[in-house]
Amino acid sequence: MKQTKIWHIGSKNMHANGDKPNVVESKMTHHFQQPDPESADRLDIQLKEAAALLGAGGVIAFPTETVYGLGADATNTEAVQKVFEAKGRPSDNPLIIHIAEITQLNSIVQECPDLAHTLIDAFWPGPLTIVMPVREGILSPLVTAGLPTVGVRMPDHEAALSLIRLSGKPIAAPSANRSGKPSPTLAEHVANDLTGRIDGIVDSGATGVGLESTVVELIGEHTIRILRPGGVTAEELQKAAPNARIDRGAAALLESEAPRSPGMKYAHYAPQGELTLVRGDAEAVITYINEQSAAAKRRGERTGVLAFEERLASYQADLVLSSGSERLLQQGAYLLYDALRSFDNAGTERIWAEVCSEEGIGAALMNRMMKAAGSSIITLK
Ligand code: TXA
Ligand code: MG
Repeated sequence: MKQTKIWHIGSKNMHANGDKPNVVESKMTHHFQQPDPESADRLDIQLKEAAALLGAGGVIAFPTETVYGLGADATNTEAVQKVFEAKGRPSDNPLIIHIAEITQLNSIVQECPDLAHTLIDAFWPGPLTIVMPVREGILSPLVTAGLPTVGVRMPDHEAALSLIRLSGKPIAAPSANRSGKPSPTLAEHVANDLTGRIDGIVDSGATGVGLESTVVELIGEHTIRILRPGGVTAEELQKAAPNARIDRGAAALLESEAPRSPGMKYAHYAPQGELTLVRGDAEAVITYINEQSAAAKRRGERTGVLAFEERLASYQADLVLSSGSERLLQQGAYLLYDALRSFDNAGTERIWAEVCSEEGIGAALMNRMMKAAGSSIITLK
């Protein structure tokens, strides 16, 4: 068992690029613990301590604008190995590199095509990971899991950027959850999964987007292929690169062929209970879920429902949780992973969830919900 140190740095003004998304008042406003009194000096000392550990080969969880990441010096194989071990992550699933300065990119990738520059200008710092040909001999080979490419992003979070800058290293960081569990959107989630397995946690409260970054690869000069939908939407990519073709299909195809994004082949985000998505006319969905829930209760099972605010009061189950408003799907994105963990904490055995539109951030939300459900979806006529 390692001693896992926790730095509470407060959540004020932590986003480099503006405010957190417009989210409802919810239980997500709670903090793992009250943040320490916010003095700039103190913050600085805490981040310096965390960065020094990181630079010395430690494994530190830190907030980003998407989810908490589990960071290690990407040039240090021993450190990167510890990330795989702490998470229980398969070694053929590569890690994303986090940078704080654009100059760091040149030392990591072979070349940065014009299309990548366009996306970088539009979205960094922000929730977009770009897969590019890796420069040999700089990063630990464990980071890329044997691929000739590397995924890089610049997170939009002051604490993350400071930590990376202070460590002086490119930081490899997968989401800071045990493999197969939902990604952490609170330091408390990280602590539950990884206490005793990592060196420290920088706690700055809830993350912003709540789902991971969008991962893209570039095909030639004109095609952007989405390997994993996320915080940057297909519509936003198209707007930033009007002449590019956006290929959205790859994520769905990956199960059968050799996976282009190795992470897509693994079970992910799954709650311990059995989750079923239910699609159809609102009234029919309510009736179906309530009938199923009543039947499960008669069998002695603990039941749960994840539904949008608009219909929340219509459901009967042991635990009914909100996805926020159906008209503001970034709320659902922000709330999903905490909801999945809450079902686990309540020992929920059967869970039903409403589906949403796949427009905008809805594409990422549905992608994660489908994964959490192991693709179990019922369509009502
Ligand atoms: O928002 C995020 O991206 C968070 C925060 C911490 O930055 N990180 C994250 O990392 O979600 P992780 O390791 O949980 O997911 C990385 C995904 C995996 O599906 C992995 O297979 C894919 O990115 N990936 C990484 N490098 C790749 C590469 N060279 N080619 C294709 N896919 C890659
Ligand atoms: Mg992950």
